[in-house]
Amino acid sequence: CGIVGYVGNSSRRADAGHSALDVVLEGLRRLEYRGYDSAGVAVVADGTIASRKKSGKLSNLLNELEDNPLPESLTGIGHTRWATHGGPTDQNAHPHLADGGRLAMIHNGIIENFAELKQELVAKGVTFASETDTEVAAALLGDIFRNQLKGDSSNGKLTKAMQLACQRLEGAFTLLAVHAERPDVVVAARRNSPLVVGLGEGENFLGSDVSGFIDHTRRAVELGQDQIVTITADSVEITDFFGAPAEGKEYHVDWDPASAEKGGFSSFMEKEIHDQPDAVTQTLLGRSDINGQLTLSELRIDPELLKQVNKIIVLACGTAAYAGMVAKYAIENWCRIPTEVELAHEFRYRDPIVDANTLVVSISQSGETMDTLMAVRYAREQGAKTISICNTNGSTIPRESDAVLYTHAGPEIAVASTKAFLAQITAAYLLGLYLAQLRGNIFSGQIKDVLADLGKIPAHIQKILDNAGPLRELARSMKDEKSVLFLGRHVGFPVALEGALKLKEIAYIHAEGFAAGELKHGPIALIEEGQPVFVVVPSPRGRDSLHAKVVSNIQEIRARGARTLVIAEEGDEAVRAYAEYVFYVPQTPTLLMPLLTTVPLQIFAAELAKAKGYDVDQPRNLAKSVTVE
Ligand code: G6P
Repeated sequence: CGIVGYVGNSSRRADAGHSALDVVLEGLRRLEYRGYDSAGVAVVADGTIASRKKSGKLSNLLNELEDNPLPESLTGIGHTRWATHGGPTDQNAHPHLADGGRLAMIHNGIIENFAELKQELVAKGVTFASETDTEVAAALLGDIFRNQLKGDSSNGKLTKAMQLACQRLEGAFTLLAVHAERPDVVVAARRNSPLVVGLGEGENFLGSDVSGFIDHTRRAVELGQDQIVTITADSVEITDFFGAPAEGKEYHVDWDPASAEKGGFSSFMEKEIHDQPDAVTQTLLGRSDINGQLTLSELRIDPELLKQVNKIIVLACGTAAYAGMVAKYAIENWCRIPTEVELAHEFRYRDPIVDANTLVVSISQSGETMDTLMAVRYAREQGAKTISICNTNGSTIPRESDAVLYTHAGPEIAVASTKAFLAQITAAYLLGLYLAQLRGNIFSGQIKDVLADLGKIPAHIQKILDNAGPLRELARSMKDEKSVLFLGRHVGFPVALEGALKLKEIAYIHAEGFAAGELKHGPIALIEEGQPVFVVVPSPRGRDSLHAKVVSNIQEIRARGARTLVIAEEGDEAVRAYAEYVFYVPQTPTLLMPLLTTVPLQIFAAELAKAKGYDVDQPRNLAKSVTVE
């Protein structure tokens, strides 16, 4: 879910025309990628709470606000929802009201003990309008404010009530609350769920991430776990759940708000696909010296400890997990350290073998994916060293890891990941080379060569982007397909999985990725006349027979009627005879090929989804960052 909070003062509003509603809606627009099942806002005006909420995308809420405007206000909160408890209805949308409509609350996360709290509140006569756990938290806060703190007339009453409420809540949550009797404050709490503060002049902000207020300030404050923050126009106060004062850490946001705009492309996803040469360049930048040695000085982890590592486990979800699969091939090849890749949500439930000599590398664009965070925490508890590969500065996973290697892809807005994926693979290569360098597994000349090849990747990607016309045409011609298969071998296997995932995510077409060699062990039964199959073909210059094996796999499916769509390396003329369609990518060493072969599959999915008239950036049922387990 996406969350925004704002408090301004009247002089500031006169200067800059900021009304709470404008700021909150602008923030929600930027945060909508975090969930778009419903949206809602509440403002405090004239001693009351006024709120509007609507199921569906933010545009529905905007229409509602046009029909039923809210009064001018300096204090407001807003929410875009990714449904967990209760369906995506108007009723279940946030904010939820309590204390006779005098309190409004928004929430991201899951309150695990909501059923028990609800029972308790029902027994006290509280009634509920929705099925959500959020309304229970709101009612609890309202009950504490109204009854438990009856005699309290202090300014800090809402903060105090939030502290008492949080002491009772279990689970993971970010909560924001406003109360009609405390019109100048927004109080927020966080446990295992994202929240950052934005510092303005005469105004302050809250957001799930900095995009919630990037139009207004670059000064952000990180909060710790189990903290409560109270913002007014002129102050930001942080405490723990028991009222003890705490300090946040201020940092500067260097994202350019323009880079979060579409820049002339039809969708953020198209733009982000075109950002990829830059995403790779930025991720490589400043990470090696002129002698071709890696200098990952930011990796604040004792090199001596890294030398002792005897096993690596890569943890991630979704697209990031496919980046992890690519990483395994590279790391094992260069470092000779056994490397496993596992979906983060499977990891801690199977009693994995982890000790002080295990290095856990987590990969996450957002740095907030709850499944990945919990796996990293578990690994740390078992004594593993943890390194995070992450795209979001100051997010939770890097903060809870021993060290972080940031991917510098810039903000990724489209829900389906593209540039973050290439940046993750790039960062994983750098980490693999660095470990190999530390451990002396690889000659420095070899590192220099790989770095030189990596340096050429951005121009190669650009060439792919420039030559994609016929591929786009192919995609448009395939918009009525019901099923598309993807095959790959070696590093082409995760690329096939990613190609299939992109198509599922945004074009809602049934798609499966297979290891090409596995086909004959089952999936080949799916092949019938006209079945489209993408095949990611390895370089003929690579390891003996890999290319030949995949060409045999192509023949096997063609013989059974498949329509073969091939991604191959420039100069691979042999493959033409077996393909209905070939897209050539520039030559690069086999291990680096995913940085190129993925790109045509991304373009294919985006173009096809566009041809179907779908919302490419906000596909149904998904959210960019899933902060529940
Ligand atoms: C969600 C998104 C996916 C993404 C995955 C991991 O499921 O819809 O696109 O790959 O989370 O996200 P992360 O931020 O951890 O990379």
